[in-house]
Amino acid sequence: MNDSGVPHEGHNKIPKGWMAFFIGVVIFLLWYIAAYTPTISGWSFYKIFEDEMKAGQQQAVTAVASSDPGRYVGKSDAIAEGEAAYQTSCAACHMTDASGGIGPNLKTKLKFGSTPAGLYESIANGRPGGMPPFGQQLGNDKICKIAAWIESLR
Ligand code: HEC
Repeated sequence: MNDSGVPHEGHNKIPKGWMAFFIGVVIFLLWYIAAYTPTISGWSFYKIFEDEMKAGQQQAVTAVASSDPGRYVGKSDAIAEGEAAYQTSCAACHMTDASGGIGPNLKTKLKFGSTPAGLYESIANGRPGGMPPFGQQLGNDKICKIAAWIESLR
C-alpha cells in the first residue's frame, strides 16, 4: 500500500506472468492472421472445398464401379422389393407405373443411360433437372433393386 498521494505507478512492475501471456497472445494473433490470409500463406477455403468435392466424387464413382449395379437384374424377389421401394420413394414424380409425370418416363430410352450403371448414377447422385439424390436415403442395395425393377419394365 502507498498512501502518500504522490503518483507511484513507476514502482508497480507488470507481473512477469501477465507480460508473458500478453506477448504470447500477440504472437498467436500474428501467426493466426498470417496462417489464414490467402495472400500470405496460400490457405484457401475454396481449395479445401474443391479437394473435398473431388474426394466425394471419386468415392461415388468407385462405389458404383465396385457394387455391380446390375446384379439383381432378372431376379424376381429383388425386383419385387425394388418395386415396393420405388412406389414409396419415386412414384410421386415418375408415376406408379414409371410412365412419367414431374420426372420423365422411365420405360423408354433414357438420356442419362438406360444401363443399370446409368440408372444407379441417376438415382444415387440425382440429376440436375430436378431429380433428387437418393444415395443416402436408400443405400446401395435398394438402389440396385429399383434399377432391376426399372430394367424389367422394358
Ligand atoms: C421430386 C421428383 C422426383 C422424385 C421423387 C424422383 N425423381 Fe427421378 N427424376 C425427376 C426429374 C425431374 C428427372 C429429370 C432430371 C433431368 O432431366 O435432369 C428425373 C430423372 C430420373 C432418371 C433419369 C432419367 C433419364 O432420362 O436418364 C431416373 C433413372 C430416375 N429419375 C429415377 C428415379 C427413381 C428410381 C426415383 C426414386 C428413388 C426417383 N427418380 C425419384 C424427378 C424425381
